[in-house]
Amino acid sequence: MDRLKALDIFNESYSRCLSNPSFLDLFYEKFLASSPAIRAKFEGTDFDQQKKHLQLSLSFLRMATTDYEADRYLRRVAVVHNKRNRDIPPLLYDLWFNCMMETVEICDYQYSPDVEEAWAQALKIGIRYIVSKYDEDEHPESSSGNGDLARASR
Ligand code: HEM
Repeated sequence: MDRLKALDIFNESYSRCLSNPSFLDLFYEKFLASSPAIRAKFEGTDFDQQKKHLQLSLSFLRMATTDYEADRYLRRVAVVHNKRNRDIPPLLYDLWFNCMMETVEICDYQYSPDVEEAWAQALKIGIRYIVSKYDEDEHPESSSGNGDLARASR
């Protein structure tokens, strides 16, 4: 599927998911249930805030390859999650990905193989980027977008 078509399908599916009031709750329910390692990382988290972060991240993930602002945002997300900060090891992103795909399947009433492919494409680029920064020794305050995400996905 070409990138523009995937982006359209992703955008429409994402709107349908957001119109389901349980979408973000359901994702975190699944994600926290997926492993004790995940629950441990989120001890003390304010989930009202965290759901807002997730919603924003998803809109930036879909623009990740085309938009400088999204690049900057995801670079900061990558730094927050790196070894030095929240220390989120790459394997945990597989759980994140699987939980998100299951949640979309439940929440998008027009779910189809094309929708699945469009989400997988969009999420994988962002995840690959965040994981590639795991070992970087950077602090959130010093991070800035430099276009490397857009370049990496080409
Ligand atoms: C592509 C996947 C992911 C995205 C887009 C994402 C996005 C975010 C964002 C935007 C924040 C807030 C950052 C800030 O404070 O500015 C955050 C915080 C956090 N994320 Fe992720 N995340 C992802 C995967 C994961 C995974 C796999 C874990 C594993 C446990 C995780 C654990 C956390 C934790 C512990 C926090 C801090 C929560 C707190 O403030 O207490 N994230 N994430």
